[in-house]
Parts: sequence; C-alpha cells; structure tokens
Amino acid sequence: MSRSAHPAGPRHADVMAEGHYTAPADDLNALDEKVWSRTVTRDEHGALTVGGIEVSRLAEEFGTPAYFLDEADFRARCRAWSDAFGPGADVFYAGKAFLSRAVVRWLKEEGLNLDVCSGGELTTALDAGMPAERIAFHGNNKTVEEIERAVSAGVGRIVLDSFQEIVRVAHIARRLGRRQPVQIRVTVGVEAHTHEFIATAHEDQKFGIALAGGQAAEAVRRALTLDGLELIGIHSHIGSQIFDMAGFEVSARRVVQLLAEVRDEHGVELPEIDLGGGLGIAYTSEDDPREPHEIAKSLGDIVTRECEAAGLATPRISVEPGRAIVGPTAFTLYEVGTIKPLEGLRTYVSVDGGMSDNIRTALYDAEYSVTLASRTSDAEPMLVRVVGKHCESGDIVVKDAFLPSDLAPGDLIAVPATGAYCRSMASNYNHALRPPVIAVRDGRARVVVRRETEEDLLRLDVG
Ligand code: LLP
Repeated sequence: MSRSAHPAGPRHADVMAEGHYTAPADDLNALDEKVWSRTVTRDEHGALTVGGIEVSRLAEEFGTPAYFLDEADFRARCRAWSDAFGPGADVFYAGKAFLSRAVVRWLKEEGLNLDVCSGGELTTALDAGMPAERIAFHGNNKTVEEIERAVSAGVGRIVLDSFQEIVRVAHIARRLGRRQPVQIRVTVGVEAHTHEFIATAHEDQKFGIALAGGQAAEAVRRALTLDGLELIGIHSHIGSQIFDMAGFEVSARRVVQLLAEVRDEHGVELPEIDLGGGLGIAYTSEDDPREPHEIAKSLGDIVTRECEAAGLATPRISVEPGRAIVGPTAFTLYEVGTIKPLEGLRTYVSVDGGMSDNIRTALYDAEYSVTLASRTSDAEPMLVRVVGKHCESGDIVVKDAFLPSDLAPGDLIAVPATGAYCRSMASNYNHALRPPVIAVRDGRARVVVRRETEEDLLRLDVG
C-alpha cells in the first residue's frame, strides 16, 4: 500500500515538540544490539535473520505470531553468568521467566542450576533431566503435595517463605525420613526502583519474613530446632527489572548482618546467601543494563567486605537471574493486519497477536521497541502504537514507537526482548491460541513449544 494511503500521523517535529517521545532512530532499519539477540542481523536484502534464517522463511514454516529463541545467545548468556560468578558461587536460572524441556537441557549442559516455583515447573525440570540437587524450590504458598514432591525428589533447597511453612516442610521431611536443606527468604525492607507489582523487598507484601522486628531472626531460631530441616542460608529477592545496584547492596549488607546475629546467638555460621534475581535488561535503546561480570563484582565485593567487618567467613553466594538470561534471547514475530491512521494522534498498527502473547505492556506499562522485519524501508518515520486483536483497548504491545510510513498489511514486524515473561504469562484470552517457541541455531529452526490448536482448547472444555 502506498504511503499516501497511510497518512503518517504526527510528523517527527510535532511529536518532539510535545516532548513525550524519544526521537526515532536516524535509521529505522538499524538494529540496536542492546535489544536484539546476538545472531540477529539483516541479510543482503534487508530482511531480519536469526541464526542465519530469514524471518519470512520462518513465518512461512511456523506461522505468526511466534517467539524465536536464539539458542546460541541463550547458551552464551548462561556461560557469561556462570563465568562471572565463578566456581565459588551458584547461578540458578529462574524458570518462571520461561521454561521448557529444551531450556532445561541447555541449562544442564551449561552448568547452571534451576529455580522453580510450582509443581508444574518442578515436573518440567525433572522430566528434562535436571538433577534434583541442582533445583531450588520457591513459592509463598507451596501446597503440601508440592512440598512432598520436592522433598521426595531430593531438591537441593526449599526456600521457606513463612512461619507455617517452616513447620510444614520440617514435618513432611521427617515423615519422609529426610533432612531437607532449606533457606529462609527474608524481606530486607528496601524499596526497589521498579514497577510496584514486581518489587518484593518492602515490608507490605506477601513474600518472605521481615528482618524488621526480629521476625527473620525468630524464623532462624525455629528452623534450627527442627530436625527435618538443614538450614543452609538466607535468601533475599528484592524485585525485578532493576538497574540500580544500590538496592542489591543494601540487601546484601542486611543479610550479612543477620548471618552475624545468627552466629552470635547460636554459634552457627550459615554457609550460603542467595541474593535473588531481578537484574534489568534493555527493552529499548534507552535502557542500560549491567553486564554479569559487573554485577558479580559488585555483589561479591560487598559481601566480602561486610563479612570481613563482621568477622564471618564469606558465605557461598547464589543468584537467580531469569529475565537477564532469557529476556534478550527471543523476539516475537507478528504479521501486520489493519493499519488505522488517526489524524493528529498516531497510527494504530494491529497485529495477529497481542495481550495474550505479551501481557507486560498492559500489566506493567512496560516499554518495548519494534522493527519492520521482512524488509527495510527508507520511508519517513511514523509514530505508531502496535496493538493486538483482542477485545480491549488496553490490548497494546508497543505503546509508542516509530515504523516506516509505507508499512502495509502483510509486512512482518518483530518485537525484541520478549524471551522473559511473555510465553510464560501467555493466556487464551478470547480463545487465542498461544504461540509456539521456535529455537533457532546455526541455520536450523525447531519447535520447542508447539502452537496451541483449537483441539487443545476443546480438549479442556469437557462440558
Ligand atoms: N528469584 C525469585 C525468588 C523471584 O521471585 C524471581 C522473579 C526471580 C528470581 C527472577 O527475577 P528476574 O531475574 O527474572 O527479574 N512477571 C514480571 C516479573 C515477575 C518476577 C517474579 N519473580 C515481569 O514480567 O516483569
């Protein structure tokens, strides 16, 4: 469709005058390596490629919408995290970001551990061959059945989240004739600078046991007296999509203080601390994430310093990055459907997915970027809102972005950095079929999670 058929909406100058938007990139076809996985590039015809395969070929074979996961990049990020933390620390990938059997096998091969937070994640991990001792089991309301399965499987640690759970896990472990390694999750009382729904270290929320008022110290007291439990350490997770290391530093300091108190009161030096996940990634060119080696150095230094000051041996550190490993490794490919220019406002570009494959924009006001993927274009930038096909006006995938003004139905567009919390939070709203996840590596693409079918929907509907 010609550009004249699509008035471009506000011109760049008007938009900038309003002061609400970032300027469009000088070249809309350029790929910012911060937001794209490492093997994504454009071929000589300008089409986006991943793992050496052009997106139009991928769309033809696998359909759209679909998530394309760059296996080489995923593995490289696993290695970057484990190299950065070294043999004296443990990296647990947080499976809630995205979990499948293929991912579990890659983690196992790359030497990472795995954090799961439900029976379903535990089943997937064990089924794909993750050794139980490399699994940590989380959750603020684990069921008795989940605890029994985790203990029987022999998971490496259960992270205790409440006073009731301390007793419950101890009881189940004793009944099963086990002594279960556990950590206690504490809330350290820092306000992480992120969206309210994904901040977890302030006191007024459902996770963990507060350091404040001596509650965490009391939890340690109880855990140490129960013979079904082997208390191996303290856990703190302050939130998610955080760039500022200050919150992690305060958290590390407060956790070490608790270790010192435990040593003074009980004569026991707990051997481990887990500082959780939550490291931010770049969704747009505005974001500046830290590299794993910087994160490892800053956390390692603070823990070492605080332990020296307290006269404690440095405990073994573990971390639980989810988003920072898988987030940047995938993009979602959509086909453009209707295009609706609203004069003086913006152009609405509808795609064949939406809030069912990426709820993050609606839920957290998350920002994403987008590029024309099936070709390049030198047309002028137009301000767009990329929206889905659901029956809600909040069904937004990318709130504000620029795409070339010759965009036409049938073009493919790609939204980067959708590896974390997109497929794992996908829904069947409006009876949408959840998209597949396709792993791409060295010129080969294979389905790791298949697309849902209408038969899948009907199979659950037994009425
Ligand atoms: N460890 C614990 C105990 C957690 O609760 C989480 C995330 C992580 C590690 C991993 O955090 P990450 O490194 O991925 O930020 N759905 C939200 C994020 C919720 C995170 C929940 N817990 C989102 O889409 O932003």
